[in-house]
Amino acid sequence: MKPITIDFSKTPPSVRPREVAELLEKNRAPIRNALSPIRGKTDSLGWVDVDTLADRELLTLIEDKAKEIRENAEAFVLIGVGGSNQGARAAVEALGDNRVEILYTGNTLSPASLNKTMAQLKGKSVYVNVIAKNFATLEPGATFRVIRHYLEEEYGLQEAAKRTIATCSPNNGSLELFARDRNYTVLPFPLDVEGRYSVLSAAGLLPMGVAGIDIGALLNGAREMKELIHSEGPETNPAVLYALHRNLLLKKGYAIEILSHFEPAFHYFAKWWVQLFAESEGKDGKGIYPTSCSFSEDLHSLGQYIQDGRRILLETFLNLEDQGASYAVPHEDDNRDGFAYVDGKDFAFLNRVAFNATINAHRAGGVPCAVVNVPELTPYYMGQLFYFFEYACYVSGAILGVNPFDQPAVETYKVDMFNGLGRRQISQMEETAKGPKSESPE
Ligand code: PA5
Repeated sequence: MKPITIDFSKTPPSVRPREVAELLEKNRAPIRNALSPIRGKTDSLGWVDVDTLADRELLTLIEDKAKEIRENAEAFVLIGVGGSNQGARAAVEALGDNRVEILYTGNTLSPASLNKTMAQLKGKSVYVNVIAKNFATLEPGATFRVIRHYLEEEYGLQEAAKRTIATCSPNNGSLELFARDRNYTVLPFPLDVEGRYSVLSAAGLLPMGVAGIDIGALLNGAREMKELIHSEGPETNPAVLYALHRNLLLKKGYAIEILSHFEPAFHYFAKWWVQLFAESEGKDGKGIYPTSCSFSEDLHSLGQYIQDGRRILLETFLNLEDQGASYAVPHEDDNRDGFAYVDGKDFAFLNRVAFNATINAHRAGGVPCAVVNVPELTPYYMGQLFYFFEYACYVSGAILGVNPFDQPAVETYKVDMFNGLGRRQISQMEETAKGPKSESPE
């Protein structure tokens, strides 16, 4: 199957191929290291080899559990925050079949939101997946306690345990010990994978299976993108070229990158992408600020700024080549509503015309635009997209000179919050549990 491709022909003439080549020359060593990483003991690179994330035995366990849940559950509660829910949600919201209602919680401390979730569970057959690499984060921790109490009251200890799956570090971390003690099903959250790179591990795969997504096809897509990235030299490598372009533009003052799309199904994929780049690159006073736009909706809000605000924006479009659906505008004999010009035309065509017009307008307005062409919205191409952006982010971090696998600044708000809540200071053990210190690929 043909891979996703990336097209830079809509970047402004001020971005010369010579400059891209120069940036590549300057960064040959870190790029080479990123393309052929030498694995260390604690390097956060577990995601690079798709096949080590879930072997056959684990895949069978995930598929069997997903089947059981699809047959028995009306609601599936996913408790997780950041990398522990964004990847799964990106795939589920784009490709899931809604046979089991999936509720996302543990990503907010809002009591209103929690009340809403609890009300949605009433009278339904419920399964729960708590996903936490470290299980020290307040939001999922406190929420899991609430949901656990609900399940135990509804079903009793034994049945509640059968309905609970914990995806956690297999290193006798606190959640794993707790889960084993209570006889939950335990799935591994790989130690050498940070949350935002975990979508192709059990953290993403079980919820996808529950949503009826063909996880084998998704992993195939990721695997083929891996082969492509690892077989292409840097001059033609799509992940490297994307990383070079955005870093070159950053040097020219384009400090904000928008991931734009015309397909609402990509909404949560774009949120995953935002987290991936924000936590990986926004550090040491460096990095592009990532954000996203869902068009046409955002053409009528952010579109004004993109077209005519400060010229610090670059835009990467997801171009869904085959929209996989159609709906024709009904015919009317007169033009009383003023829309006779779209009479009989398909929405897929209208969306395509709007896409082309937007790219042309933004480019003319001075926004460098890159286009990622996605042949179809399928599990296979979703797998390609996940892997492509993960790798591109890793290479981009190497060019930028940051460690793309830590997120030390995320801890800052917690100090005050924990003081406010009377929690004792973070212990050395928890510090360690925040994640391995990884090597920047320089
Ligand atoms: O990408 C990351 O590593 C983070 O966003 C984590 O996923 C997030 O902080 C949640 O971590 P945990 O599930 O271990 O509480």
